[in-house]
Amino acid sequence: MIEQLTHHPRTAAVVLAAGRGTRFRSATPKVLHPAAGRSLLGHVLGALAPLGLERVLVVVSPDGADVEDEVAAWDARMAQPVTTVVQPQQLGTGDALDVALRALPDDVDRVLVLPGDTPLLRPETLAALLAVDPELPLGMLTTVLDEPDGYGRVLRDADGAVVGIVEDRDADAAQRRITEVNAGMYVLDRAVVQPLVAALGSDNAQGERYLTDVVAALAASGPGAGAVAAPAAEVAGVNDRVQLAAAAGVLRRRHLHDLMRAGVSVVDPDHTYVGVDVTVGAESVLLPGTILEGTTSIGERATIGPSSHLTDCSVGDDAVVHSTRADGASIGEGVDVGPFAHLRPGTRIDDGARVGAFVQTKNATIGAGAKLPHLAYVGDAEVGAGANVACGVVTVNYDGREKHRTVIGEGAFIGCGTMLVAPVTIGQRAFIGAGSTITEDVPSEALAIARARQVTKEGRAAGRLG
Ligand code: UD1
Ligand code: CA
Repeated sequence: MIEQLTHHPRTAAVVLAAGRGTRFRSATPKVLHPAAGRSLLGHVLGALAPLGLERVLVVVSPDGADVEDEVAAWDARMAQPVTTVVQPQQLGTGDALDVALRALPDDVDRVLVLPGDTPLLRPETLAALLAVDPELPLGMLTTVLDEPDGYGRVLRDADGAVVGIVEDRDADAAQRRITEVNAGMYVLDRAVVQPLVAALGSDNAQGERYLTDVVAALAASGPGAGAVAAPAAEVAGVNDRVQLAAAAGVLRRRHLHDLMRAGVSVVDPDHTYVGVDVTVGAESVLLPGTILEGTTSIGERATIGPSSHLTDCSVGDDAVVHSTRADGASIGEGVDVGPFAHLRPGTRIDDGARVGAFVQTKNATIGAGAKLPHLAYVGDAEVGAGANVACGVVTVNYDGREKHRTVIGEGAFIGCGTMLVAPVTIGQRAFIGAGSTITEDVPSEALAIARARQVTKEGRAAGRLG
């Protein structure tokens, strides 16, 4: 569960994520596109998670089943309930908020509103928005941009009070020159604002119900909106894949900076890709070309890379993982992997073991101190502690219909080029002669050799060579 840094009773967050995202040209909903290890929506929910809100409601479109799955995954991670409400038609941001406010329980009287496409947002900035004068009916984040094109512009009167927001497509030439923009993030007093949202029309360039029109309505009827300045770098919305790549770069650099400040060496941050949910211990070194994804965790003093790609793996202290692809593998302390190993899901390598070049493992346990130095396939298998699996050994686990298990006892020696036809068990400290095809169990301490005897015929090579 994500730790709560502040506490906001009776306050809910609404995340608007029902938009079509047409500029992405994608069958996947925009908010599910990944950036640095989370979906766009996941980054927004992650920024909300530590704020101590009562609940989070995500507005989705009727065909948003995948979005609902992502929301369910975050519901399991976050301390507060995270649920969805369907906006039947995408009639604009005001309509989306209207749908959400109608769905919120009565005990919610303050609402934080965010778009689902702003992954750079930090919790600190949202905390500043929540700290706006609670007497104001609405607080909004604004920022000044050199290139404000596309954003709604903040309109102020001669005294500097906010009197409205004009959308880019509705703005006149003078309004377009305004550089203070609406970030699309608000906190509002539900009792005052909900009736105004319900009354929103759609008389504008896009024929949509604009949430932003609430700001002018408030200014006309009493105390208007309060603007809170936000860092420009945090409010950028991701509307196409060019902006997606740029946002992912920012997120990656931020996480690498945090890791470096915490004692991790990143030799070339421009060529190191570490997802935001990946942890790395102090004194570890990430070499260029390293990609760490998902829930990967790296211990202390480990060396990863160059060119290792790990997804959902755990790596112990002092381990070395060179030029390796690993997925769902657990790698113990002091283990030495690679170069050019492929560890597939269900691999567990215990402390001090060695898995070398061109070794592939899958659903396999490699005991402490065991050695698989080169060119082996070990699948659906258990290799005992201290065993030696020499070059070219294959666990023949598949008979064309089913997978079968191979068990290799502690301290056993499997000679080069051995085929272990599963199901088969090799006892502790047994010895298998090189080139054997083993189809029957071998007891502990036994020597097994299973290969045709060599025939040598003197002088018979002549005449066979061109
Ligand atoms: C909006 C603001 C603009 C602000 C900008 C900041 C309005 C009218 N304009 O413009 O002032 O500068 O954000 O990024 O609010 N959505 C729905 N249902 C809908 C329409 C949109 O859920 O019917 C969601 C989208 O999925 C998106 C968010 O609302 O996450 C914002 O919508 P978008 O169309 O991206 O608004 P902008 O044009 O960026
Ligand atoms: Ca947007």
